[in-house]
Amino acid sequence: MKSEVKLSKAKWLVEPGCVVLVTSGTLENPNVMTFSWQTPVNNADPCLILLAISHIRYSYDLIKQNHELVINVPGEELLEQTHFVGTVTGKHIDKFKESGLTPVSAKIVAPPLIEQCAAHLECRVVQIFKMQTHDLLICEVVRAAADTDLFDGKWIPEKFHTLHYLSGNNYGVMERTIVAHARLSFL
Ligand SMILES: Cc1cc2nc3c(=O)[nH]c(=O)nc-3n(C[C@H](O)[C@H](O)[C@H](O)COP(=O)(O)O)c2cc1C
Repeated sequence: MKSEVKLSKAKWLVEPGCVVLVTSGTLENPNVMTFSWQTPVNNADPCLILLAISHIRYSYDLIKQNHELVINVPGEELLEQTHFVGTVTGKHIDKFKESGLTPVSAKIVAPPLIEQCAAHLECRVVQIFKMQTHDLLICEVVRAAADTDLFDGKWIPEKFHTLHYLSGNNYGVMERTIVAHARLSFL
């Protein structure tokens, strides 16, 4: 049996993309916030990633200043930090100091990488689409790096558990690889 899902709850049916931590500002004055509304939107070079950001986020004020950000990928071990930086604003506190996350210099952009994360995508915002509550940021990835023990062209879920947001305080983790045998034709 299937029952109707309220349209206001429908997003939870497709929600669980990998949760990321987005850094903004500069190494000297950084901020970090949690995102689950992120998706790749280009299948070639340049790699483009869409982020949906609420108009009221302090991070958005910082992103508008230099149009740069870093997408960092946390694992299960960063659950508490990930939830914390997604529930308080950095407008009046230093979320790096409060969470114990460590900002380290990026190679190309001004915002820092998060040392404890397994991967980093340094990005420039190349286009913004204004929407009702959130704006859509089209981010061009200008550099990416990942831990080679955990990522060999794809994540190795047996070694690294990405977080997937379910709603409220609930997250899922990706724990194993399963392999389909049909030939892939659409990528
Ligand atoms: C799991 C999770 C996912 C989130 N995803 C988004 C998102 O995709 N877009 C968004 O604007 N806010 C999202 N948020 C909310 C922000 O991370 C949160 O409001 C944060 O405190 C903003 O920080 P700032 O004011 O320092 O920028 C999410 C929060 C959590 C906990």
